Amino acid sequence: MFAHGPCAAWSRRISSVHSIEERLASARKQERWATVYRESPEIFRAFENAEDPDGVAALRLAEIAGVRGKRVLEVGCGTGWLTRAVAPLATTHVAVEPELRMLERAEFLGAAEVLRARGESLPLKASSFDRAVMSFVLLDLRPSVRSAVLAECERVLCASDDHAGTWVIENAGSGAFQELRGIEDLEGHGEVRPLVEDCGFEVVETVETELRFNDAAQAELVLGTILGERVRAVLKRQPRASIPLHIALLFRPRRD
Ligand SMILES: C[S@@+](CC[C@H](N)C(=O)[O-])C[C@H]1O[C@@H](n2cnc3c(N)ncnc32)[C@H](O)[C@@H]1O
Repeated sequence: MFAHGPCAAWSRRISSVHSIEERLASARKQERWATVYRESPEIFRAFENAEDPDGVAALRLAEIAGVRGKRVLEVGCGTGWLTRAVAPLATTHVAVEPELRMLERAEFLGAAEVLRARGESLPLKASSFDRAVMSFVLLDLRPSVRSAVLAECERVLCASDDHAGTWVIENAGSGAFQELRGIEDLEGHGEVRPLVEDCGFEVVETVETELRFNDAAQAELVLGTILGERVRAVLKRQPRASIPLHIALLFRPRRD
């Protein structure tokens, strides 16, 4: 666990000096998500494979969102990580994704109907879904696009039952992975704060899972490449194949 190692000491020192906003800004400068995603797909793929490998968070979202027997829209399905948990339970599951290369690599989409489209411009009829779901999409979007995607979700949702609304999966503010990135926020919401404060989401539950790599060398290579040299150095000093990961499940009820 990082909680007792040099990473925790570094993290405590940094978080006592810098606000969460400053630490998030610093992480955004150091981390190379978009570059890795474009230029080193094999690294990104290894990260995806390591992230919550047993699908605990996706299965829990499917359970508490009550998707069984419902019409579900998924925005930004990527290669199908959340789709694989939700589609088998839903009556219909329509997944939209704008990136062709994601769709080409998608696996086990099961009963889902997949459309190449953007969340802010859904080629779908109004009031035709009971739930909207997304994993690791909203926080990557500019605030104006984020609002447009949420407005489209509202348009296609109908007042089917009291639980109609939008469910989202993002990283929580706690856990060793956020500590490693220098953005842990035990008192607050960490990176999901804009979703809570600006978009009307509530954190319903935090699921404790892990990033599980093949071995410590793969963890160092993948996380060092994505998160930057400081993280690579920490993982060189403290080799580990598994890193605790806390995932937040958030809900925003459909608005009348
Ligand atoms: C980090 S990936 C997450 C993929 C998948 N949901 C998962 O959890 O593995 C973000 C996804 O959002 C998609 N995306 C980006 N902008 C989007 C938009 N405006 N509308 C819908 N999807 C978008 C990307 O193409 C990418 O597949």
